[in-house]
Amino acid sequence: MLLSLFALLNSCGSLPSFARNQSIPYDCFAPGDVYNDTDGNLIQAHGGQISQYTYQENGETVTKYVWIGEDRKNGYYAEVNAYSSTDLYNWDFEGTILKRVPSMEAIDEDSYFNSLYSSLTLREREDLLKAIGPTSVIERPKLLYNAKNDNYVLWFHQDGYSSVNDYYRYGTGNAAVAVSDSIFGPYRFIASHRLNYVTDGFNANPNSLGEARDMNLFLDDDNQAYIVYTSENNKSLFISRLNEDYTDLAVPASLAKEGEDFTRIFPNAMREAPVLTKYDGRYYLMSSSTTGWMSNSARVYSSDTIFGKYVNDGNPCVGNGKMVTFDTQSTSIFKYGEQYIYLGDRWDSQDLRDSRYVFLPITFEDAKMQIRYYSKWNLKGERI
Ligand code: GAL
Repeated sequence: MLLSLFALLNSCGSLPSFARNQSIPYDCFAPGDVYNDTDGNLIQAHGGQISQYTYQENGETVTKYVWIGEDRKNGYYAEVNAYSSTDLYNWDFEGTILKRVPSMEAIDEDSYFNSLYSSLTLREREDLLKAIGPTSVIERPKLLYNAKNDNYVLWFHQDGYSSVNDYYRYGTGNAAVAVSDSIFGPYRFIASHRLNYVTDGFNANPNSLGEARDMNLFLDDDNQAYIVYTSENNKSLFISRLNEDYTDLAVPASLAKEGEDFTRIFPNAMREAPVLTKYDGRYYLMSSSTTGWMSNSARVYSSDTIFGKYVNDGNPCVGNGKMVTFDTQSTSIFKYGEQYIYLGDRWDSQDLRDSRYVFLPITFEDAKMQIRYYSKWNLKGERI
């Protein structure tokens, strides 16, 4: 035991401020530390998602972890980056997979945008610029592989100034979707949607139906996909079933039935940053409270069925720092073998580019999700 702790300290703790680079591969997680890719650049994948995929690389079939997230190198106005890894510690940059369209002219003049959008009408081009133009908000990108169409579907929180709201950056409140035949893009924006809503009974924001802000995706064992999002002005979480292409709701919002096509969980509870996972047949929905870039207490709701009765399991975090989720906000939960792993963002609102990542192991005890903090840990089970 002492020896393995010493080994862990040596392999992680003795490296100067974890300024790891290609010549010293990472061999552990160091929550909140500077995290570089294998080229030595800061990883830019905030509000992201890690998942394992099998795909073609240079004519070979590979299975790798893929991390997508917000590229905040220019600050507020993010694009979407992708990285790949075989060991979860060392990440190769795979490029910017969704780019914002800089101008109307770029659609004709820039070959990248021309190849994606040249067939759009003027009206569609205007909508495209509104959705992913220079001042659009692109946040919390999440990816699914669609086996039916053998393509990749990228969803993200799409926001911006609206015609009725030209002073508030989050005046649109939509979820947008883009597709690509290859995992690392380029992704072509196809639509920006409002989602399901409730009109009979309480609605915390009845004048703006179907908003989608912080969001996530969930793929169930039967390949049915769901979008999980905060709606009603960040007051109520929803889970909605997606269609077979994963590109839209399964049933149009005007026809969708609560309990069959979507569910609304603890209306008015003011939760966001949702992450849905499944352990031992039970659904666990983790979220944060709504305090912008500032960290707050996480909460887990759990249920035996996806649209079932969720119960409040309380704060999954244990120990020092639990009231502020170890200074993070939830963004992804993924598996390494049987080990569930939490990925949170430690936002730096003054310098979003330098927001940090926190990876922590998750355990399930008496059917409750628990997250404990370790300053260094690895996948061999060593933790300090
Ligand atoms: C947070 C949200 C982030 C971002 C931020 C902007 O609440 O989780 O994704 O939207 O607010 O203030």
